[in-house]
Amino acid sequence: MANEQSIHGIWTARWTFVLAATGSAVGLGNIWKFPYMTGVNGGGAFVLVYLVCIACIGMPILLAEVLLGRRGRASPINTMHSLAAEARATPFWGGIGWMGAVAGVLILSFYSVVGGWVVAYCWLALKGGFTGQTAEQVAATFSDLLANPQALIAWHTLFLAMTMGVVVRGIHKGLELAVQIMMPGLFLMLLGLLFYVMTLDAFPQGFAFMFSADFSKLNGDSVLSALGHSFFSLSLGMGAIMAYGAYMARERHLGKTVLIIGTLDTLAALMAGLVIFTIVFQNGLEPAAGPALMFQTLPLAFGKLPGGMLIGTVFFILVTFAAWTSAISLGEPAVAWAVESRRLSRLQASLILGVLVWALGVACALAFNHWSHITISMGDLFTLNIFDFLDKLTTNIMLPLGGLLICIFVGWVMDSAIVRKEADLHHPLLYRSWLFLVRFVAPAGILMVMLNPLFQ
Ligand code: PHE
Repeated sequence: MANEQSIHGIWTARWTFVLAATGSAVGLGNIWKFPYMTGVNGGGAFVLVYLVCIACIGMPILLAEVLLGRRGRASPINTMHSLAAEARATPFWGGIGWMGAVAGVLILSFYSVVGGWVVAYCWLALKGGFTGQTAEQVAATFSDLLANPQALIAWHTLFLAMTMGVVVRGIHKGLELAVQIMMPGLFLMLLGLLFYVMTLDAFPQGFAFMFSADFSKLNGDSVLSALGHSFFSLSLGMGAIMAYGAYMARERHLGKTVLIIGTLDTLAALMAGLVIFTIVFQNGLEPAAGPALMFQTLPLAFGKLPGGMLIGTVFFILVTFAAWTSAISLGEPAVAWAVESRRLSRLQASLILGVLVWALGVACALAFNHWSHITISMGDLFTLNIFDFLDKLTTNIMLPLGGLLICIFVGWVMDSAIVRKEADLHHPLLYRSWLFLVRFVAPAGILMVMLNPLFQ
């Protein structure tokens, strides 16, 4: 047990894990999804619940997942199998890995469609498509894109090909390079945009929308969304971080590492939110516009900025990279498993996964046009199109459930001496607080939020 290497290799340096995990965490979840969910759920109160979920549930589980991966040194499915055997527990714990790999495939299918929108916007920005546009024109550009199935499928295909292209090459070539250059660029750009919107009259309004909590706008559903999104944003509950943890060398500062990843992820989301909501209020737009929000606001700002064509292009390229580095981590668990256990080459495994995800992604793309009438419903609980259904199923159910099982496994099933050693938290108080969160607070929180709809 406790191998020192996985068959897929090891990160070249301590920072590479931080970069890769941050690359996985920071993505469309921060820049596209967080602002629009905040808008739909009424603002500040949602943000507050989200931050509490990140701090009390997300971060402790982040550490637990890294710990599992580094101990198991294999794909999440095989890691969970071998750690269950080590703990003399039922092999059913392997189910965490299975559910995660499936969740990864499902998320990647709709993620790749949105990734495609972002790539399309790089192209639009480069053509000068935003210059001098009114809010109505910008909104029309986006709805035209959604109404065009060929374009959506083509952009989705391109984004997915980019993603699988890196997964095929394994963890060193591609991924490490992409995060090293692009992540700092993205943060600088967000910071630059933040400084820009601070000069606008509507900044106080955008700020208030994000940070003044009106709890009357909150209901069970939005609390579940906040919890689910904290998992989505930190890439938790489906094995992405576990898979990356498997490629990590031994080190002594796991706590610090996890803190850095969580902080960067949260900062990226908050900055994106402030930028987007200031533009919303500056232009009299609707904060609850839903998935269209980012695509209806940012182009407006770029259209007005001097040099906006260049800034807009660079910005959307950086968002593409953020989405790309996240998408890679969505595919890695399934591919790593197929290579280990099905004796497929990385190429074969990536091709099979790619075709599967592509087909599901096409269905998601068609949900915005030809198939918009097709919905999946469950009594009064929900009626959703395919795109929204996959999003809700994974974000609100599969990821929190995976997180819950991870807490129970690490907190209650694994040998506590091993957990203590692998957690690498040297300060006893720190270790005990973390264990308390993993054993009690996180599972109770997840259960309460998830079961709540049943009692309403
Ligand atoms: N965390 C990524 C984002 O915010 C999405 C993701 C979810 C990636 C789950 C891996 C696993 O965009």
